[in-house]
Amino acid sequence: MPIIQMQDVLDAYAFIKPLIRPTSLDLSSNLSKRVGRQVFLKHENEQLTGSFKIRGALNKLRSLNVSEKKAGVVACSAGNHAQGVAFGASTMGITSHIVMPNSAPIIKVEATKGYGAKVYLHGEIFDETLQRAHELEKEHGYIFVHPYEDPKIVAGQATIGLELSQHAMDWDSIIVPVGGGGLISGISFVLKQMFPKIKIIGVQSDQAPGMTQKFQGEHVEPKKKSATIADGIAVKSTSPWIFENFISKYVDEMVTVTDDEISDAMVFLLERSKTVTEGSGAAGVAALFHRKLDIGEKTCVVLSGGNIDLNTVSKVIEKGLLHKGRLAALSVVVDDLPGNLNRLTKTIADLRANVMEVHHDRIAQGLSLRETKIDFVLETRSFDHIQEIRAAIAALGGKLI
Ligand SMILES: Cc1ncc(COP(=O)(O)O)c(C=O)c1O
Repeated sequence: MPIIQMQDVLDAYAFIKPLIRPTSLDLSSNLSKRVGRQVFLKHENEQLTGSFKIRGALNKLRSLNVSEKKAGVVACSAGNHAQGVAFGASTMGITSHIVMPNSAPIIKVEATKGYGAKVYLHGEIFDETLQRAHELEKEHGYIFVHPYEDPKIVAGQATIGLELSQHAMDWDSIIVPVGGGGLISGISFVLKQMFPKIKIIGVQSDQAPGMTQKFQGEHVEPKKKSATIADGIAVKSTSPWIFENFISKYVDEMVTVTDDEISDAMVFLLERSKTVTEGSGAAGVAALFHRKLDIGEKTCVVLSGGNIDLNTVSKVIEKGLLHKGRLAALSVVVDDLPGNLNRLTKTIADLRANVMEVHHDRIAQGLSLRETKIDFVLETRSFDHIQEIRAAIAALGGKLI
């Protein structure tokens, strides 16, 4: 007997459908062109509260009895589950207490408070945050809402599977980001029953690869601290419950991606699809670009969240442009003579690069008295273009360092 039934998912959907946003599912021509296959995108980054998490949260909250609702709920989360629970609880008139790690993105902390939750910042990694939430549960009798290890949460996330199932009859695969595994559990539970041949691919950050290692039969050694742009999927411990009941049964492949690969995917989605995703939300596209996946002719990628602060967006864009040769940082040492800066900027302008920043430094370490260092940040067209500029600067007598 499966731990959840299709009827649980249908019941969850009947309750949450009027409370959530119907997120779009499109064929992405840009992505399809880049990978040479048909690629559909499910835009849960456009969901209320900015991620799919509201689905599971609402389904869990609806299952509480009157006295449990009165006691209030406690949850822990790096951000998206927090927002889902806070929003769901205030919609249903329930008090919520949310523990978030000290490193939680400011946008997520503020949004969670804005949805009416009492927020506690505690711990460096999810597992420490989780422990504090359990303490609050014991001390005050709040009802604990787990982010993934709960049949009600999995059934709530599975409602995405129901929405996809209307279009998935001829899909060969689907790619889903994995943290604790509630999202992929729900989606794979529904899709594998309806379309047993569909290949389910899970994606994790290489900084938190626990479920992937477990799936591949490797020994899992939880890391103390992870720093990744994909904070939503940075879950250190692996849930045996999720693994045994869902991942080992319904998932076909698990891969990891690096932060650079995720940034590349985020920049592509921003530039080509005008789509804002957070790191975790873009992990599926990162795997599509950077891993050799057997996705067949038609695949779907779940963009699971879009909660990202503007500072991070600007850093990601800058890094992404650097990786593509569309931005270059050059340091040039020249003789400290009148006209040298002018000659350099003219050479750069003649090659049609745009100077974004320039810094003139006479006292940098290692310079002789007659030298000066000039640092440029340039808007460029490609790595070849950067090479052309470097060669022209060298021909002028500039020393590139
Ligand atoms: C944006 C985003 N994507 C994916 C996930 C992974 O979900 P799960 O923990 O259910 O695997 C999360 C989890 O918080 C998330 O916030």
